[in-house]
Amino acid sequence: MTEDWHCHLLPGLDDGPATMDESVEMAMALQKAGFGSVYCTPHLIKGCFDADKGAVKAKLAALQARLQNENIDLRILPGREYYLDEFLFDYLKDPLPLGETKYIMLELPNHIDSEYVKEACFRIKRSGFIPMIAHPERCSLFDMPETEKTVWFRFSRSKLNHQGSKPGHPSLLEYLKDLGCAFQANLGSFAGWYGSQVQQVAGNLKNTEVYTHFGTDAHSASGVLLPTDRKLPGDP
Ligand SMILES: [Fe+2]
Repeated sequence: MTEDWHCHLLPGLDDGPATMDESVEMAMALQKAGFGSVYCTPHLIKGCFDADKGAVKAKLAALQARLQNENIDLRILPGREYYLDEFLFDYLKDPLPLGETKYIMLELPNHIDSEYVKEACFRIKRSGFIPMIAHPERCSLFDMPETEKTVWFRFSRSKLNHQGSKPGHPSLLEYLKDLGCAFQANLGSFAGWYGSQVQQVAGNLKNTEVYTHFGTDAHSASGVLLPTDRKLPGDP
């Protein structure tokens, strides 16, 4: 059964579906697309989308009951998409990992300093959890200047430093990989849903085997890719 590791399926918690009916419509689309399990990962951004853990679990239970009533065979699991800012560690005093795993999904703001990302991920790992970087292909921290792309693509397996890293100092990507972080790709990135730049970065990261998990990051029924669209670059 295919798993969707990143999905805004729960109603009324973030910029995903507003109502339970919309969530059910979305669940049907996910099932039709071939997913058997979906991790529900509402945003957690202080002052913007900051429903608490209890609200997430209550919405999850209500949606699961509704899906059972309507004979929609889709397993849904709790989670969050944590925004990496100065409030993150307040929220992580009582974390909500992805289902029964130790994964903590992190959304990295584009403006954030890479050293801050390293420190935050180190702290999460030290606390016994595993950071999962949400859609790195959409984050400029993992992009690189046009002139470096070909070289980076060719030599990334041999741990070439890029992004202006000093010799002997690992890039952000290499640091996070060595730390044991997981990396989740948005399926729509490979289909160009976020533009050609993101599509190219996603292809590069896929070809260099960075990704460990995949997800729709869907916010509505129309955001669920159909099975024929979900083939990844290089797949038969
Ligand atoms: Fe998301």
